[in-house]
Amino acid sequence: MPTERILVTDALPYANGGLHLGHVAGSHLPGDIYVRYQRLKGRDVIHIGGTDDHGVPITLAAEREGISPQELVGKYYQSIARSLERAGIVFDNFSQTSRPIHHETARAFFTRLYERGWFVPRETDQLYCVKDQRFLPDRYVEGTCPHCGYPRARGDQCESCGTLLDAIQLIDPKCQICFTIPEVRKTTHWYFLLTRAEQDLAAWLETKSHWKDNVRHYCAEWLRQGLEDRPITRDIEWGIPVPLAEAAGKVIYVWFEALIGYISSTKEWAARTGQPDRWKDYWLNPDCTLVHCLGKDNIVFHAILWPAMLMAHGDFVLPAEVPANEFLNIEGQKLSTSRNWAIWLEEFLEEFPPDPLRYYLAAIAPETKDTDFAWKDFQARNNNELADSFGNFINRSLTFIARYADGRVPPPGDLQGDDRAVLDALVAAPDAVGACFESFQVRAAVRELIRLGNQLNKYFNDQEPWRTRKTAPDRCAATLYVCAQAVRSLAILMAPITPFSSEKVWTMLALPGRVDTQRWDNAADQGVPAGHQIGKPEILFTKIEDAVIDAQIAKLGRPAGGKEGSGQWAVGSGTPTPPAQTVPSPAAESPSVPPDTISLAEFQRLDLRVAEIVAAERVEKADKLLRLRIRIGSEERQIVAGIARQYSPDRLVGTKIIVVANLQPTTIRGIESQGMLLAAADEDGVPLLLRPDGDVPAGAKVK
Ligand code: MF3
Ligand code: ZN
Repeated sequence: MPTERILVTDALPYANGGLHLGHVAGSHLPGDIYVRYQRLKGRDVIHIGGTDDHGVPITLAAEREGISPQELVGKYYQSIARSLERAGIVFDNFSQTSRPIHHETARAFFTRLYERGWFVPRETDQLYCVKDQRFLPDRYVEGTCPHCGYPRARGDQCESCGTLLDAIQLIDPKCQICFTIPEVRKTTHWYFLLTRAEQDLAAWLETKSHWKDNVRHYCAEWLRQGLEDRPITRDIEWGIPVPLAEAAGKVIYVWFEALIGYISSTKEWAARTGQPDRWKDYWLNPDCTLVHCLGKDNIVFHAILWPAMLMAHGDFVLPAEVPANEFLNIEGQKLSTSRNWAIWLEEFLEEFPPDPLRYYLAAIAPETKDTDFAWKDFQARNNNELADSFGNFINRSLTFIARYADGRVPPPGDLQGDDRAVLDALVAAPDAVGACFESFQVRAAVRELIRLGNQLNKYFNDQEPWRTRKTAPDRCAATLYVCAQAVRSLAILMAPITPFSSEKVWTMLALPGRVDTQRWDNAADQGVPAGHQIGKPEILFTKIEDAVIDAQIAKLGRPAGGKEGSGQWAVGSGTPTPPAQTVPSPAAESPSVPPDTISLAEFQRLDLRVAEIVAAERVEKADKLLRLRIRIGSEERQIVAGIARQYSPDRLVGTKIIVVANLQPTTIRGIESQGMLLAAADEDGVPLLLRPDGDVPAGAKVK
């Protein structure tokens, strides 16, 4: 249970591009839903955000767009803030880390830690590009991850395995400006003594046993590997100058200051409300519940680095909740801004109203594992759940009252078993749905709501008011009375997820005030009195046609804005876009390349390996299938393959084959298959195994 005072933050998106649905699903929507819910609960909650304006993601994008970093962040701040607002994501304050208030706050924070002896200067090796005559911190270099082998790991973090890196550790590093190989030079940086906080951190994390499994596992793994002191200064010009005379020309590492942005933005809010000290009620209040909403690539920063910084500082409240989300894939593929395999919020909202998006992203929220945004699924859920279930119930209830009761809610009369069952379900709903919101389980909340919606539709059907209207007017009156109460309850219960539609329902009901000033705990009150005159019913959710969805699917992977060959590069948070001439680019971006061409980087994502078959057996009742135990290096796995007709199990043992080693596991006939072997069909369509030509060790990479 949170305290009565709650501060919710959403990860600050880099102001280097527009927002895509990954941002929305990962942090902004969960944050907004939680805040809306807590507000309905009557708690003192504020929602704090802003843009992350510094660091290499910004300077790289500015260089590519040919404008100054200042101009870049100004431009994207506007577009980010605008699309959030249109999506109904409401902040009490949405700031920028390039504003003076943040510079001051971050420098003071830095100075405090410096004075407390948390930083030490160390001479280090850094990558330096001779051609560009500059050091290459963080994302200015990419190379192969020393931990997982991902070929496009960035200088500060491997996107694939999440490991924090020092650019110097990358294998085959390349400058991201000119794509040449950098050299190593010496420079001095100030290191944050993270190792010194290790024990306190570990003890503190111990107290977070209620955190989500994914977050706890990540943290446990980092602690197991052991923390390292982190350099928190950089040799670039754009950023917050280090407030030390000895560090002239250096700026504070973007992550080290961006997190402090949550405090600066709260200060800005307090000043704006005319009570400049009000931020202290949250940050200096040990009873304030601090909640950070973010995606999994940000966990290490919010659950390790940031608490350590706060402990080192000493004055501030520590995070209470870090309900991080996994990733949102798009149509089965990892979201990638550089390939424009992304759905941009602004474009989405040009075509569709915000509530169906919020509803769908809530229904498929990547709470425990990566989930997939699929356009057809979006369409189906919009049409079947929003339009045919919720919308239909609300619409037919209100239309019926408008048409046959002169728009006045009839008196309940003698309520019967079925009526009471519905009113009881309404009474149970605020706690059931609320418990889900309280514990960041938005998907479960949607499931509860769907169940309620189905029950309400069934009630309406079973009661047949269109019949009882003539045969048993009292029954009809009771039904409509109950339906009116249910419509009001639904409006409140769904308000955190579909705020615009809930407000519309409130207006149609012609109830006083606004839906978002109601109380959650009164959601089940019979709050629409008999005799109350309702407003004009309107269609709440419209169905989406196939053609509209097909057009959206066709846009995926095309250059931003859908203008083929426009030469426009989409630059979003996350993956910076390399210039076209130096890196093999996806086909769609250049009209001269066949449309199904993939880039070298895409091919390199396939982990093809030589594997040795160590055991093989037939799968019962499946005459084509063999279950194989294979060895890839020192690792053993099982795969299921459809080659039983042409290969007998005992003759396969000892054979070396080629497998796709990083394929998502799947279950075939109840058996898990952890990879796929490569085979090609002969003239008769019989699959024959591909094998290495010579003695290659099991585990060798195929490239
Ligand atoms: N800009 C970062 C990202 O998009 C998130 C920063 S969160 C902050 O990955 F708190 F540090 F700002
Ligand atoms: Zn890695």
